[in-house]
Amino acid sequence: MSEKVRVGLVGCGGIARLQHIPSILRMPGAEIAAVCDRDTGLLAQLGRELKTEKCYEDVGEMLSGEHLDVVDICTPPRTHAALATQAAESGCHVLVEKPATLTLEEFDSLARTCERNGVKMCQIQNKVFEPVMMRALDRVRKGGLGDVVAVDVRVFLRRTAVLMEDESHWSYDLPAGMFTEILPHPIYTVQTFLGMVEPVAVHVARPDVHGHVGSYEIVVVLEGRGGVGLVTYSGSSPKNKVMVDIHCRKRSLRVDLWNSALVEYSFGGSSRASRAVENLVQGASLLAGSARTMVDVAMGRFHSGHYHQISRFVESIRKGCEPPVTISQAREVIRVLETITGMAAADRARIS
Ligand SMILES: NC(=O)c1ccc[n+]([C@@H]2O[C@H](COP(=O)([O-])OP(=O)(O)OC[C@H]3O[C@@H](n4cnc5c(N)ncnc54)[C@H](O)[C@@H]3O)[C@@H](O)[C@H]2O)c1
Repeated sequence: MSEKVRVGLVGCGGIARLQHIPSILRMPGAEIAAVCDRDTGLLAQLGRELKTEKCYEDVGEMLSGEHLDVVDICTPPRTHAALATQAAESGCHVLVEKPATLTLEEFDSLARTCERNGVKMCQIQNKVFEPVMMRALDRVRKGGLGDVVAVDVRVFLRRTAVLMEDESHWSYDLPAGMFTEILPHPIYTVQTFLGMVEPVAVHVARPDVHGHVGSYEIVVVLEGRGGVGLVTYSGSSPKNKVMVDIHCRKRSLRVDLWNSALVEYSFGGSSRASRAVENLVQGASLLAGSARTMVDVAMGRFHSGHYHQISRFVESIRKGCEPPVTISQAREVIRVLETITGMAAADRARIS
């Protein structure tokens, strides 16, 4: 392997330009060796921006024309399985945006191809690698909060309200529509704190947002051995917000993923004075945490979840250790997503 891990990027649309490209460009141990997209205009523009001529319209040509260590797949989900299989068969490690595949069968086939070719595969689950989420995870692992008994993830996105205006967007063609696009993040978040979970209830609603047929919302109940997970998703919010409450036996944590804020709560007695103290302590910790994040951003030390996860994947290739999201962890996301898809279809039929 050359000094830097050589990454070939496939799919240079929204998330590639927003996260993957800037993250890899900032990484000392990796470089973008080539880019590939079917959209020739986009490809030419990116070639100019990156000052590279290594631009390909076809992934096969990129794989045969370049010596790559990693293929980073940022195309729509329907294309992932075939592209990832092609990359693995040509001996490249595979980094793939969530969901890695649309079915468990496709996932298992891809995993076998990776194993046969001796390459690693890692599914992007950037939300859990956001600095504030990693702090929450550290806090839980350090002890003192007690065992995790419930995880409540609420995802309110403006993005889908915007996508609703484009009825030809690829997300409408996914097995559970927008839910397939959104749910891998909250599923993996719940699994990170609770381990294996099983969906036991799904409720789909269809509020009349912009009078558009795609404006479904969902609530999912997940049950694990240690506790329960609750996922709520709404795509009709005026502003993006992702909130995660982690309830432990002694104390709870609230993560505002969007604002990068973490507070502890549910401590102290039940007197009025004690409740007021809890409010003050929360306020102080919110202020201190926000100040720390602002300083990190100002000093250029703040990195996104994508940056942290991709860095760890690059590290796992160099050191020959497990990727930051293992194949069995990614498989669990796809398995649970597939089960929810079946349950949501039945519920959607009820209201359509
Ligand atoms: N992790 C996150 O937070 C996050 C956020 C948004 C999207 N995503 C995921 O990223 C992926 C891409 O989403 P997006 O919003 O960037 O999509 P997009 O439509 O903006 O970009 C996809 C790009 O892939 C190109 N493409 C499609 N098929 C191709 C092929 N066979 N070969 C080469 N190029 C091809 C398209 O021309 C397009 O430029 C999806 O899996 C999505 O779920 C993840």
